[in-house]
Amino acid sequence: MKRTNDSIRILFTEEQIKERVRELGEEISRFYKGRSPHLVCILRGAVIFLSDLVRNIDLPITIDFMAVSSYGGSDRSSGIVKITKDLDETIENKDVLIVEDIIDTGLTLKHLHQIFLARNPRDLKTCVLLDKKERRLTDVDLDFIGFEVPNEFIVGYGLDYGGFYRNLPFLGILNISELSGGE
Ligand code: IMP
Ligand code: MG
Repeated sequence: MKRTNDSIRILFTEEQIKERVRELGEEISRFYKGRSPHLVCILRGAVIFLSDLVRNIDLPITIDFMAVSSYGGSDRSSGIVKITKDLDETIENKDVLIVEDIIDTGLTLKHLHQIFLARNPRDLKTCVLLDKKERRLTDVDLDFIGFEVPNEFIVGYGLDYGGFYRNLPFLGILNISELSGGE
């Protein structure tokens, strides 16, 4: 599973993630009590997080998926987001909760917010597993946050490097000599 020469240092264990995701599910259930939030998972990084999160939410929820790619192709986000797979359902008049894997510069989320707001949801909130706060280049409102993480390249539990490592059950810091990709 590990690519040759890459080393990964565990940041959060499977147990720690499980516990935190359970707490987030409870927070979300309390916050949206009496409502039916529409969760939008941003593919592909957030898919593992979403699948665990929804099983900890005690409300009648619906889910949809959007895939985006950020122009630029490096580990730096350009903030220009291209929708590569759009939502299947309208978000008009819905209580939308965007579910993201990690917020780094914040540029991707900022752009996504603009796209979503133009479609007239009743309400728009964001739930993110990891917040790499130190790298923020723009203001973004994060409503539910799993963990704050250091300025390192994180893989596992859905997060990839060059498409690999999404299936690691834990979150780890990737140490390689040529860091250049990921999405
Ligand atoms: P932002 O626009 O800089 O906030 O970029 C956010 C996107 O970059 C995330 O949705 C991830 O796809 C990717 N990304 C940023 N940091 C990492 C990381 O440490 N590991 C894996 N992907 C990352
Ligand atoms: Mg992503």
